[in-house]
Amino acid sequence: MPADSPVVTVSDGLVTLRPWSREDAGFMAEASADPAIRRYNGSHDRLGRPAPPPSTTDAETVIDQFALNWRAFAATGVPSGVAFAILDERSGELVGCCGVDDWSKEDVAQFGYWIAPNARGRGYATQAAILLTRWLFDLGAARVFLTIVAENEESVAVARRAGFVYEGTMRGHGVWQGQRCDVMLFAALPLEWAVGRLDGGTDARQGRSPVRRPHRSGARLDG
Ligand SMILES: CC(C)(COP(=O)(O)OP(=O)(O)OC[C@H]1O[C@@H](n2cnc3c(N)ncnc32)[C@H](O)[C@@H]1OP(=O)(O)O)[C@@H](O)C(=O)NCCC(=O)NCCS
Repeated sequence: MPADSPVVTVSDGLVTLRPWSREDAGFMAEASADPAIRRYNGSHDRLGRPAPPPSTTDAETVIDQFALNWRAFAATGVPSGVAFAILDERSGELVGCCGVDDWSKEDVAQFGYWIAPNARGRGYATQAAILLTRWLFDLGAARVFLTIVAENEESVAVARRAGFVYEGTMRGHGVWQGQRCDVMLFAALPLEWAVGRLDGGTDARQGRSPVRRPHRSGARLDG
């Protein structure tokens, strides 16, 4: 991160979200080669043919762009294009990524996420989605939404556990390897979103008291 980039961190007892650093480029490059991450997060052409996985140098360029977006956020308060690395809070191990794809003129935010293959199944994506949603609402988002390819059941489960409401399916909205695919729309509104707001917490898995419940730790904006 350039010295004048803001350093925003949020955490909840399970995960910490912090801006990407150039030292993370190897992890990003390796994870980006995972077939599911290429399928659901990678860029592709108009026919849905995926771009080659990024090299470590490519990943450094992506991280540099994130840093520029963080600087723009510091100047404007609009977090379009900012991204967090997701870390296991206890070990500090890098496990994934979540980032704000867009923040519209109407204060509607969209975000996405991925978890490295060997770190899946432990709740990191759900907790990161809850933390990021709370951060966006605290910034004044009027609506936060996710778009998920209909066959991506793991991501649909994350959206539901994180308290997002299914709003419908956009038929033929996506394309992959020459085939159109349906894309599901999930959203949360600040006044109805309960998962990350309840003081007592709601277990994102089952709606019961959580083992490690998310708690408000506040966003820290330094530098
Ligand atoms: C989609 C994706 C992020 C989901 O990751 P995941 O590891 O399945 O999701 P989570 O991190 O929330 O983990 C959920 C699992 O951890 C369990 N879990 C453990 N502790 C948990 C906690 N505190 N909170 C929630 N779930 C917890 C859940 O019960 C669930 O287990 P199950 O899979 O046996 O049902 C991952 O599959 C991925 O990166 N895919 C490729 C990229 C992608 O699809 N990105 C999304 C594009 S829209």
